[in-house]
Amino acid sequence: MSTLAITVDGLKLPNPFIIASGPPGTNLNVIAKAFQEGWGAVIAKTVSLDASKVINVTPRYAKLFSNDKQEVVGWENIELISDRPLKIWIEEFKKCKDRFPDRALIASIMEEYRKDAWFEIVERCQETGVDGFELNFSCPHGLPERKMGSAMGEDPEILEEVCGWVAAAAKKPVWAKMTPNVTRIEEPTRAALRGGAQGVSLINTIRCVMGVNLDTFRPEPSVEGYTTPGGYSSKAVKPIALRMVMEVASMVRSEFPDRTISGIGGIETGEDAAQFILLGADTVQVCTGVMKFGYECIKPMQEELLAFMEKHQFETVQDFKGKSLDFFTSHADLVCRQAERKAAQKAAAAKSVRSDAEWNSESFVRQSDSLSRP
Ligand SMILES: Cc1cc2nc3c(=O)[nH]c(=O)nc-3n(C[C@H](O)[C@H](O)[C@H](O)COP(=O)(O)O)c2cc1C
Repeated sequence: MSTLAITVDGLKLPNPFIIASGPPGTNLNVIAKAFQEGWGAVIAKTVSLDASKVINVTPRYAKLFSNDKQEVVGWENIELISDRPLKIWIEEFKKCKDRFPDRALIASIMEEYRKDAWFEIVERCQETGVDGFELNFSCPHGLPERKMGSAMGEDPEILEEVCGWVAAAAKKPVWAKMTPNVTRIEEPTRAALRGGAQGVSLINTIRCVMGVNLDTFRPEPSVEGYTTPGGYSSKAVKPIALRMVMEVASMVRSEFPDRTISGIGGIETGEDAAQFILLGADTVQVCTGVMKFGYECIKPMQEELLAFMEKHQFETVQDFKGKSLDFFTSHADLVCRQAERKAAQKAAAAKSVRSDAEWNSESFVRQSDSLSRP
């Protein structure tokens, strides 16, 4: 019998589906709903020490629809981290752990480039009993103007240093959430792991501009007629997320074999999750999918992932983690493999022509018989 239950970095989860940091983990009410619906863990909306500096605008989302307008395939947001005071979050983290003591609640944290600030936020959250930390090094809009978020995630030296500070202060597992807005994702990831993060989460949103209104010439989402590039998520980003998870997993497998990966980006089904796990993810996170389909989508996702496992007789998620990584190679190797296959086919064809010429009435029965054997 297959099971979705997993243990990752010491956290026991009923399944590998985690609510990603964002609107689906924006306060205790919705976090409780996520646990009640059966999500494996929740990563709360990112918090910082001084929420008064976080000022959101409206509208802050823009959607890309399929041609028939029936489906949202891409989603831009220019939403910042949580604008709720840390004091309220601390109370809610405590209440959440009282109500759901055996469920994993992970605090997503972000701070300025100061050791004392990172120490303080880790310690204040840690006292509430949260089960782990995710370090948001990856929000691509707004916060980088204050040298936070992806401004840190793009700089391996800073990443290593900040992960080191957090690892020194944290008594719980620490995951670094990586930005996809870099050319080579392995470099910052390596730095975060060297700094002491137990795991990495990827990807956060991809910097984007959703579109331009052809009547007003204003780009969207338009706030008082202006905009700023935002973060792209949902189904459209899945191929990019899969590629980055594959690159990171290949590196982690050889250089940091005891570290973990949480895959994120466009996951909406159990089959999507299976693909991320086949490419090396230990867990998967969902944000926009929950905003599109509601918390209840965890049920079909679990059923689909279990059906995949049962079909292939995998007992645990670990049994197929990274199984597809071995099927990546260089383009030059693809060319060699194809040339070898074509040469073998040609040789087989030549052989069959030769043996055709050998057909004759005396050996006809023997030759017919030989063709029926494997
Ligand atoms: C509206 C919105 C707000 C988000 N806020 C946060 C955040 O506060 N912290 C964070 O680490 N990621 C945040 N994210 C990024 C998501 O956690 C996730 O990495 C990204 O959206 C890709 O996954 P998805 O396609 O499942 O949404 C946000 C995403 C969206 C769409």
